[in-house]
Amino acid sequence: MNKNNEIMSDRFYYNSEKRHSDEIILSCDDISKTYENGNSLTNVLKHVSLEIKKESINMIYGKSGSGKTTLLNILAGIDTASQGNVYYMGNRYNSMKESKLAKLRGNNYGFVFQAYHLIPRISVEENILCPAYINGKKYDREYYYFLSKELGIEKLRKKVSYQLSGGEQQRVAIARAMLLNPKIVFADEPTGNLDSENTKIITQLFCKLNKEYKTTFIIVTHEENLIENCTQIIRIKDGEITIE
Ligand SMILES: Nc1ncnc2c1ncn2[C@@H]1O[C@H](COP(=O)(O)OP(=O)(O)OP(=O)(O)O)[C@@H](O)[C@H]1O
Ligand SMILES: [Mg+2]
Repeated sequence: MNKNNEIMSDRFYYNSEKRHSDEIILSCDDISKTYENGNSLTNVLKHVSLEIKKESINMIYGKSGSGKTTLLNILAGIDTASQGNVYYMGNRYNSMKESKLAKLRGNNYGFVFQAYHLIPRISVEENILCPAYINGKKYDREYYYFLSKELGIEKLRKKVSYQLSGGEQQRVAIARAMLLNPKIVFADEPTGNLDSENTKIITQLFCKLNKEYKTTFIIVTHEENLIENCTQIIRIKDGEITIE
């Protein structure tokens, strides 16, 4: 194990600065987010606190504009809150240097963005392998083939992303998020552009990876009952959350 990996290991994160339970991988405390639009302020999130259990599947529901993407991005450390704290294994994002937070994301998180964010001029295969190139990590070729097959994109390997349909791009983005077998996958409307058959394939894959690889999922969706037996449902309304 190289030094960087050692630094990012669970043991390191257990050096907790917050009293926290071993069961909880991610938590946030009293998060608020306010946007300034000219003279007016929009309070998108108001005093949101929640806990994400290890190896759990969590759904975030809410109407369009309710703050789902904002909350997901704050939990993932790619956006900052106006107030409050986020903790990975009890360690506060705000007390990490940006480089340490970037390593934490690179080593432990996978992202499926609402707008895919595929790199336009490189092939599907290169897009999927991006996390390995960027983080200087080895990837498992067999696992890459497994993901491509499960997601029905194995024949698209040589294509470039502008040649793909929205649903195909979405499935490539999902393969990319999974490549390094991250501890947490943050997925923003991962089935938003998919038909019911592909939605079923994706949700079954998420459940399989959750069981076999203990991956934690935080999934934003409009679709009620996307995954029947999820651990936790987080509903956002008027900036506040309720948890079921
Ligand atoms: N950078 C920004 N500046 C100002 N307002 C913003 C910004 N980003 C988001 N908002 C506003 O914050 C609110 C929440 O946005 P967000 O993207 O989190 O909603 P959402 O629940 O993900 O919506 P959707 O289901 O349509 O994706 C919206 O009213 C949006 O207009
Ligand atoms: Mg959104």
